[in-house]
Amino acid sequence: MLVPSKLCKCNMELLKKILDIRPLLAVSKRNYTENDFFKCYNEDNPPVFGQYNALTEKDYSRFLTQRSKRREAALTREITHLAYKVGKEMLSLAEGMPNEGVFPFSKIDIQMKGGGNLLLEGKSLSGSLQYIPTQGLPALLGELNQLQEHLHRPPALARSVIVTNGGQHGIYQCVDMLVEPGDPVIVNEYSYTGIHSVLRPYHPEILGIPEDEHGMIPETLEAVLIDREKDLRAGVQIYFLIIEDDPYVFLNYNGNPISSFLSMDTYGRVIRLDSFSKVMSSGLRAGWATVPTPLLQRLEFHSQAELLHTCSLTQVMLHHLLSNREQLVSYLQSARDLYRMRRDALQESLQQISDLAEWVLPDAGLFFWLRVRGVDDVYSMVFRTALHRGLMMVPGHAFTFDTSAPSHYVRLTFSKIPLEHMDQAVRRLAEIIRDEQLLTKQRQRKRLASDR
Ligand SMILES: Cc1ncc(COP(=O)(O)O)c(C=O)c1O
Repeated sequence: MLVPSKLCKCNMELLKKILDIRPLLAVSKRNYTENDFFKCYNEDNPPVFGQYNALTEKDYSRFLTQRSKRREAALTREITHLAYKVGKEMLSLAEGMPNEGVFPFSKIDIQMKGGGNLLLEGKSLSGSLQYIPTQGLPALLGELNQLQEHLHRPPALARSVIVTNGGQHGIYQCVDMLVEPGDPVIVNEYSYTGIHSVLRPYHPEILGIPEDEHGMIPETLEAVLIDREKDLRAGVQIYFLIIEDDPYVFLNYNGNPISSFLSMDTYGRVIRLDSFSKVMSSGLRAGWATVPTPLLQRLEFHSQAELLHTCSLTQVMLHHLLSNREQLVSYLQSARDLYRMRRDALQESLQQISDLAEWVLPDAGLFFWLRVRGVDDVYSMVFRTALHRGLMMVPGHAFTFDTSAPSHYVRLTFSKIPLEHMDQAVRRLAEIIRDEQLLTKQRQRKRLASDR
C-alpha cells in the first residue's frame, strides 16, 4: 500500500517502472469540451492497458482483512438506499426516520461569496436534515463521478465514489479494510501524521521510502518491491494496492498539474481519497473516496456500522457548490491564488535565514519543509525554545512512524499566519536556530571532552 503524502511528479515514471506497462488498448474516448482546469492526467501520454489483467473480485478479496470480510449489510440502511433508488413516494412503515415536523429549523439560507445563495426550506430543508443512503446523497454522487472523470480521466474500469467525512476518515476506513496486524505498509519516510495514528495500533511493518522534492525516490521503492516479490511465488504480480491520499490536489502552483495515480490506474489498484478541507471548509468534514467497485460495499458496510452516513446538510451544500461548475472553478482558482501569494510571501521572508536552513520552494500544498543546519535534532528546539519564545511549528518527528528518531526538519505552514507577521516569525526563527546551533556545538564539545 502506498500512501503518498504529497503530490509527486514521478507518478507516471513510478507506475511504469513497477508494472512495465505495454501498449495494448487505448483508454476510453470521451469528449472533454470543458476548460481544462486542474487537469490531473497526462493528455500527451495517456495510460494504456498493459500486460497484466485488471484485478478481479477474487484478487480484491485477497486484500481484505478478516474484520472487513465479517461486516454485513445493515438491513435498515439497505431499505433507505432502496427507497431513494425507487425515487417515488412510498407508503413507508419501515424506516426509523424522525418526523420532520419535530425539526426546529424553518429555513436555512446560505449566501455565497461569489453571489447567489442556497435556500433550504420546506421539502428541500427536511431532506437536508434527514437520513440519507450511506454511500452519499445520490445527486452529489453524480456530481462527484463527473468531477473525477473531468479531473483524472481514469482508464475505463468499474469504479465508484463514496462520500466520507474527509481524507482522514477515508484513510481509517482503508486501513481497517486492508491492513491486518503486522502487514507491510509502504509510506513516504515523512508522511501525513494522521496515517501513522491510524496505523500504529495495527503494528504494521513500516517500509518508509525516502523522498526528494518530487516525492518517493522510485529506485528505492522499486528495490523494496522487488525484494518483497522474491518472497512470492515466481510469476505472481507484486501484491499491493495504492492509497492516493491527495487533499492538496487543487493547490498546485506552477500551472503544471501532476498526473494522479488514479489517472494511470489500468489495473484497479488505486483507491483515491479526496477532500474539500483545504479549499472549501475543513469543518464541514467532507471528502470522497474513489474505489474499484468491488471494494465499494466493504466501505459502505464500514460506514453503516460507524456513522450511518456523512452529514446530509454538508452533502447538500457540497452538491450546491459542485453543480455550478463555473463558480466552483472560480472558488478553486481563487483559493489557489491566495495560497500561492502566501507561499511566495513566506519564501521572501525565509531568504533572511538561507544560511541557517535549506528548503525547496513547494510546488503544491501548504507547507515549507526546512532542513535546519547545525542542529542534531530539532525536537527540543521546537518544543522548548520556540514555544517558550512564542513561535509554533511542527518538528519532522511528527511525520515519521518512529517519533523517537532524531530529525533535522521543521514544517512551516503559510496558510493562516497574518502576512504582516511572517517576517517577524522568521526573524524569531533565526534567533532560535542560532541559539540552538550554539547549544549543539557546546554539547558536541562536551562529548568530545568526555571521550578523551
Ligand atoms: C495529507 C493529508 N491527508 C489527509 C488529511 C486529512 O484531511 P481531512 O480534513 O480531509 O480529513 C490531511 C490534513 O491535514 C493531510 O494533510
